[in-house]
Amino acid sequence: MSKKITGATEKATLPLPSEAEVAARVEALVGRMSLEEKVGQLTQIGAADFVQGPKPEDVIRKGGAGSVLWLNDTKQFNALQKLAVEESPSKIPLLFALDVIHGYRTIFPVPLAMASSWDPSVAERAQTVAAREARAAGLHWTFGPMLDIARDARWGRIVEGAGEDPFLGAAMASAQVRGFQGPFLGAPDRVVACAKHFAGYGAADGGRDYDPVYLPEVLLRNVYFPPFEAAAKAGVGTFMSAYMDLNDVPASGNRFLLRDVLRDEWGFQGFVVSDAFAVASLVTQGFARDGRDAAFRALSAGVDMDMASNTYPQHLAGLVQDGKLDLTVIDEAVRRILAIKVRMGLFEQPYTDESKLAQVIALPEHRQEARLAAQRSMVLLRNEGRLLPLAKSLKNMAVIGPLADSMEATEGSWMVFGHTPAAVTVLKGIRAKLPGARVEYAPGPEIGRDIPSWFDALNPEAKKAPQTPEQAEAAFQMAVAMARDADVVVMVLGENADMAGEAASRASLDLPGRQEELLKTVVALGKPVVLVLLNGRPLSIGWAAENVPAILEAWEPGSEGGHAVADILFGDANPGGKLPVAFPRKGSHAPLYYARNLTHSPEGSMMYNPRYWDGLPVPLYPFGFGLSYTTFSIANLKVAAPQACTGACGPGVKVGGSVAVTADVTNTGPVVGDEVVQLYIHQKAGSDSRPMRELKGFERVTLEPGETRTVIFVLGPAELGHWSTNAGKWVQDAEDFDLWVGADSLATLHADLAVVR
Ligand code: NOJ
Repeated sequence: MSKKITGATEKATLPLPSEAEVAARVEALVGRMSLEEKVGQLTQIGAADFVQGPKPEDVIRKGGAGSVLWLNDTKQFNALQKLAVEESPSKIPLLFALDVIHGYRTIFPVPLAMASSWDPSVAERAQTVAAREARAAGLHWTFGPMLDIARDARWGRIVEGAGEDPFLGAAMASAQVRGFQGPFLGAPDRVVACAKHFAGYGAADGGRDYDPVYLPEVLLRNVYFPPFEAAAKAGVGTFMSAYMDLNDVPASGNRFLLRDVLRDEWGFQGFVVSDAFAVASLVTQGFARDGRDAAFRALSAGVDMDMASNTYPQHLAGLVQDGKLDLTVIDEAVRRILAIKVRMGLFEQPYTDESKLAQVIALPEHRQEARLAAQRSMVLLRNEGRLLPLAKSLKNMAVIGPLADSMEATEGSWMVFGHTPAAVTVLKGIRAKLPGARVEYAPGPEIGRDIPSWFDALNPEAKKAPQTPEQAEAAFQMAVAMARDADVVVMVLGENADMAGEAASRASLDLPGRQEELLKTVVALGKPVVLVLLNGRPLSIGWAAENVPAILEAWEPGSEGGHAVADILFGDANPGGKLPVAFPRKGSHAPLYYARNLTHSPEGSMMYNPRYWDGLPVPLYPFGFGLSYTTFSIANLKVAAPQACTGACGPGVKVGGSVAVTADVTNTGPVVGDEVVQLYIHQKAGSDSRPMRELKGFERVTLEPGETRTVIFVLGPAELGHWSTNAGKWVQDAEDFDLWVGADSLATLHADLAVVR
């Protein structure tokens, strides 16, 4: 058994400074810094080839940078740090930052997959490992977790978040902050986290990355903010302002977001960094007149650090000297950044031991954690005739598909800068599981990208010459021939790693390329076919959902993904993940999410008016859905404490009070397995219309065959209140609610709850 990865018992290697000590040290530094040095602290410079500008060494030596990104080399970190702490005027250490999104060297499932575990401890342990490896490499700060709610599967960055729901998103947000940062900022072997992209980025018009976002306050507050607020409550050290226009004000120049909400309402004490080049982009976006105006507006709005755009260093000092900008605004931002550096212990330990990384990345328990995380993240979508699990006595299998042996697709989107994929692919995982069997492999036609991307330059896979149509046809025929010879076929289909992520939205959610055609041809052979999906977003797999007996959504499962897929296919692990986002029948149905409001013509009613002429507007697989190799029953839903409610209104709770809701879940099948018990509510009337269902509780439980467990949820003002358009504030109405408890968002086990004054 591997060692448990947890931070709960860690002790600080350095004595933890008190608030007052931190403030005193920061004041002492601010008191002796020049204006130029102060601006330097507000400047993050990029150390990669694609960043133009002066040499990092020259900037750092002059005290012109507070942080460095897009560098991933311990030796170079130490060399640059030496310039900062020995040669720069105030000798302030640098913060080294990078996107460590789902693992540094040991790659975990992508965040959307980890959210499918419905187990926040999976995300916490994953980010603990990621932090440990990243810190050993010399990094101090990661640009994660990404907390954007995404209800439009076309949007490529859906892969980086926790899906469509604010309640699940908030739970995953705090878990990731705890994982990255540990029990306190400055905990050993941890990094500072960054809640991004504040806010609303996931609601880009048409799912097109970077496009403007229009979200009324009611949606921001009830849906898009909760994961960010949870991260702030969990003590996240930094926030990143998003790129896009939010209601006509770019997020990186948005005072409402960065000051009114983040600082004044939530009391956030850390610092805000812009997204990359976003300060300069205020000009491109048609908001700021020029760079000087952009610097003024970004800092005034609350962006403390300029990521890579070189706008602050060019303009802030001049703005102060001309009397346009008050020095106190700069000082405040500098204080926040210095406070993090003090807390992180960088003044005492600015350097990284160059031998440490090799010891840390070799740890087998990291790989073991990644394998468990991948097992817990996978979602069984279909299993007709109990085709799965497959027998280990199988002697003759074919593994088919362009992703079956792709390390890139297995590790998935958002690789750490400079990382070389090193995953166990599905093919390798199956071969390792069945060492004596014949396991043939054919990739079939490649998946090509229609429109090239800037990011292709960073991806060696994208540099290969594409297949010609003749080569693709030959690959197709070879795959079919191989399938014909096998007893069981596993098809590994989905998306290349670079089809989801930044600047990787898709207009269609179909299986790209010739994959569906290949799937149909193989299924027509009449063999048992298992479809394993590797993808970064929901896909419209309507044909497969009716014609392929077994479908496993493996997402982009990380370094150990192939082993985890094999563990599930052959019954060494029982799938228990659930979808954190609905699967639409068509891409054109996006945005599609379960927590919609009712209409005057509810689906299923007498007056039902179909939404489309050409397709059901309901998901193929609903939010919260996932199967297991065993079966469960959920029963005995009870609402406790019928205090304060009289007459026929049923169990009740007073406004401001809390009520316990319980249900019994039983494993009614033959093997041990996990069920995720989910609680949904609906407020029937009140200040505003409310969604027909909202998730307000969940718990993943493991049950032996025949075992029953009582799951307890608590509903209080946070769950029963909402931001009201009519009242312009948070309210809790004294109204009746429906409650449902079950295994997905279509749960039918119902109870009433009255909230009374
Ligand atoms: C741009 C992305 O939007 C953001 O998520 C990332 O952290 C920065 N680039 C830095 O790489």
